[in-house]
Amino acid sequence: MFLDLKRLLSHLPTDVDRHDTFLLLQHVLKIPYEKLFFTKKINITDQEFIELDKYLHLRSVGMPIAKIVEHKAFYNNEFKTTIDTLDPRPETELIVDLFLKYFPYKSAHISILDLGCGTGCIGLSIIDLYPNATLCLADISEEALAVAEDNAKNTNLKQRCSFIKTDWFKNINGQFDAVVCNPPYIENGYQLDKSTLYDPHIALFGGNDGLEAYKEILPCVRKFLRSGGFLFLEIGIGQRIEVCKIAKSTTVIEIAKDLQGIERTIVFCNG
Ligand SMILES: C[S@@+](CC[C@H](N)C(=O)[O-])C[C@H]1O[C@@H](n2cnc3c(N)ncnc32)[C@H](O)[C@@H]1O
Repeated sequence: MFLDLKRLLSHLPTDVDRHDTFLLLQHVLKIPYEKLFFTKKINITDQEFIELDKYLHLRSVGMPIAKIVEHKAFYNNEFKTTIDTLDPRPETELIVDLFLKYFPYKSAHISILDLGCGTGCIGLSIIDLYPNATLCLADISEEALAVAEDNAKNTNLKQRCSFIKTDWFKNINGQFDAVVCNPPYIENGYQLDKSTLYDPHIALFGGNDGLEAYKEILPCVRKFLRSGGFLFLEIGIGQRIEVCKIAKSTTVIEIAKDLQGIERTIVFCNG
């Protein structure tokens, strides 16, 4: 049926903001977002209308758009995300920016380990910029690895990727030029806000002090880094001092702040 866009909007739940409504409408109708602004009449089937109504209700109870439409933009690509993966966060893009700073030669033959890869957004965004780089995507969650594999296919990067199910370094062999990692770092029991409630527990919580993953990863990382290799590690708010203490002899070469001025990524060098 053809419907006047204004009339359609007046039939939909009003507690979802207009931008989100348009994003969901775009998703259902599979037309570009900008096009909606120039469209007066919408061609929508009954099925699409029901689907849109369902999505708007999910949004009105707090489900993030990314979890509803099952994808999210990160750096230069769109990544599939599901209930088994953390939705890529904008602050994590800082790891890609730092990588570009420490590996200035785009044609370099670099090997990278993305530890706790989730959707694979960090590692895949990096090798998309380095045509000769290879990537090992590792996670304890089989479901997350399947999503990372889909993302590798969708970004045409799969031929340079390998996938390993592992508890941190337990099943990892060999050495890498770089390790990138955004581990779970929220303290157990922390009251999550609505948008984070839909991310998997295993991707969020890092034990009673939020530091469990760092205690597993940092004492072993040098063994898996070539001499002169780098670890790019995301941290939570206020964790810099404790994480640097855990790192002991691994040299910290930069502590980078995200766009909100929060210390977010530590760069370590195996030098
Ligand atoms: C904060 S999420 C980060 C996901 C992705 N790298 C990103 O930045 O969007 C942490 C990831 O670590 C994985 N993880 C949790 N515990 C792990 C473990 N013991 N060994 C390997 N991966 C683990 C989770 O499954 C999750 O995918």
